[in-house]
Amino acid sequence: MAENKFHSVDLSSFSFLVTGGAGFIGSHITDYLLKHGARLVRVIDNLVTGFEINLESFSGNKSFEFFKGDISNPDDCKNACSGIDFVFHQAALGSVSRSIEYPLSTHQTNSTGFINMLVAARDSGAKKFLFASSSSVYGDEETLPKKESKTGNPLSPYAVTKVTNELYAANFFRTYGMKTIGLRYFNIFGPRQSPGGPYAAVIPLFIEAMLSGKEIFIDGDGNQTRDFTYIENAVQANIKAMFADNPQSYGKVFNIAAGRNINLNQLVQLLGKITSYTKSPVHRPPRKGDIRNSLADISLAENHFSYKPETSVEEGLKKTVEWFRNK
Ligand SMILES: NC(=O)c1ccc[n+]([C@@H]2O[C@H](COP(=O)([O-])OP(=O)(O)OC[C@H]3O[C@@H](n4cnc5c(N)ncnc54)[C@H](O)[C@@H]3O)[C@@H](O)[C@H]2O)c1
Repeated sequence: MAENKFHSVDLSSFSFLVTGGAGFIGSHITDYLLKHGARLVRVIDNLVTGFEINLESFSGNKSFEFFKGDISNPDDCKNACSGIDFVFHQAALGSVSRSIEYPLSTHQTNSTGFINMLVAARDSGAKKFLFASSSSVYGDEETLPKKESKTGNPLSPYAVTKVTNELYAANFFRTYGMKTIGLRYFNIFGPRQSPGGPYAAVIPLFIEAMLSGKEIFIDGDGNQTRDFTYIENAVQANIKAMFADNPQSYGKVFNIAAGRNINLNQLVQLLGKITSYTKSPVHRPPRKGDIRNSLADISLAENHFSYKPETSVEEGLKKTVEWFRNK
């Protein structure tokens, strides 16, 4: 990750909790905080989809603590929040398909785990609570670009959990004055995103397959669009939102995306060029619960905390392929 600085406060006075910090997005937030001199960065993760290897580079750092715990356990959340100033809540069971197959475990981590974390952060007196929401909350609302104020019916149990998170966070602001901010991520990609398992995201899956000369599979006709967003842009959003100190942002949610979309066929072409892969993709039936088109209006995040994506999809894909090559 670039040495970009997205904050002006001195991080050495503060302690941070990153839930899900052994995962893809959480490990990049952890990386940023440690690189910029945070006093303490604690990660809580049960390693269900995260990896200790993502934390390896922090292990010698005196400001880093790893707590192997589960957010569906209120005591683990209480211990994780003890002495913490700022919370970046990233832990969740991702994947629309997984949630359709396993709604209960998705609910347990994403909904029960979420309210456990809110209560623990409130009780420990955390100054702010930022959390990962998702573009899936737009569900069957088809208007493009997506604006925060206009959501539809959720299309999966996963989306229901993210809608629930947003409602709880807004309510904790109204009821307890807790400074909560939600970031609706749109298809974040980059180094450390896992290509493994049945619920992997499309970019790491394609890159890994292309680099090893295997077939790639597209669910549906490939004309479905996504607002693919490089990880550094998501880190920027987290850091800027946390430190902007804009009282108008509390209890609200913001689209975090590139603000530009491409379809899956175009993604395959771009990646094919970067990896010199020439095989044609195999098309399979479309997946349940998937939205057809996605594109974010990112002006609210820009207005509230000066979010401005700096890395384009093309540049991000090159950096990601490079990382997978050297892994
Ligand atoms: N990657 C994306 O494109 C995207 C898009 C929208 C929303 N999100 C959200 O962003 C957040 C981070 O996603 P990610 O892509 O980094 O996924 P990830 O799976 O890489 O990271 C999630 C982390 O949470 C941990 N975790 C899961 N259940 C836990 C539990 N019960 N207790 C403690 N730790 C637990 C996992 O082990 C993992 O390390 C999630 O909330 C996800 O829903 C991601």
